[in-house]
Amino acid sequence: LRFRQRFFTIISRLIKVKRRNQTNVSAAAPPAHVAVIMDGNGRWARKRGLPRSAGHAAGAETFRRIATHCKNLGVKHLTVYAFSTENWKRPAEEIENIMDVLERYLTEAIGTMERDRVKMRFFGDTAMLSEKLRRLIAESEALSDSFDGVEVHLCVNYGGRSEIVRAAERLRSSNDEITAEAFEAQLYSAGIPDPDIIIRTGGETRLSNFLLWQSAYSELFFTDTLWPDFSERELDGIFAAFAARDRRYGGV
Ligand code: IPE
Ligand code: IPE
Ligand code: MG
Repeated sequence: LRFRQRFFTIISRLIKVKRRNQTNVSAAAPPAHVAVIMDGNGRWARKRGLPRSAGHAAGAETFRRIATHCKNLGVKHLTVYAFSTENWKRPAEEIENIMDVLERYLTEAIGTMERDRVKMRFFGDTAMLSEKLRRLIAESEALSDSFDGVEVHLCVNYGGRSEIVRAAERLRSSNDEITAEAFEAQLYSAGIPDPDIIIRTGGETRLSNFLLWQSAYSELFFTDTLWPDFSERELDGIFAAFAARDRRYGGV
């Protein structure tokens, strides 16, 4: 009988601990949509005397970690800037290298897709990418299309201005009335809520043509941490600071 009593005490304690954790989670609910400008790969490599390519490879690893963390915290949408329409200005060798990193990342992601169940989408003009990359993009979108958990939006050859011009062009050919809603429906991000938070690593305090329409009321966070060094802990800190911000949307 004593054993049974002890057993019940332990179980009821466990239930209490579980309840407490649940209320903690809901008290600091993570932002629904997190967007990240993953900057600082090149400087991270230079600091270590490594080629910039090593920075991009390390950056891909950080992305994997941070995406997993966001998924575990219950973030619904994660949008990341991987390659901008302006990044074509870089030396051909570096562009090739970034594309290689992307190919390797997608090949692995496709391999673990059933296990990870992350829905993948791409924002940007993918027509300009290599055939191999386009094939990987199509495959990862098709394979993950039915998943209903976290959604990752990878911005590749993405620019906010070209997204807006493209949307205007599409709206014109649709003959729909011009409204904010009709316009939004033509963006890459159609159907996805605007980012609650935009984080930029690497110390620059600018948007560099990222999500120009969608960022209207995003909370902005800038950190000097170079992207490969960005940690789950730092993200937790940013989420805590986000929870304390007062979002007024123009009201009082
Ligand atoms: C961000 O890191 C990755 C891409 C733009 C593809 P950078 O390559 O811009 O790194 P820094 O800013 O030169 O350190
Ligand atoms: C922004 O970083 C683009 C990505 C992170 C993909 P950049 O390094 O290209 O931005 P600038 O040139 O410092 O504005
Ligand atoms: Mg940079």
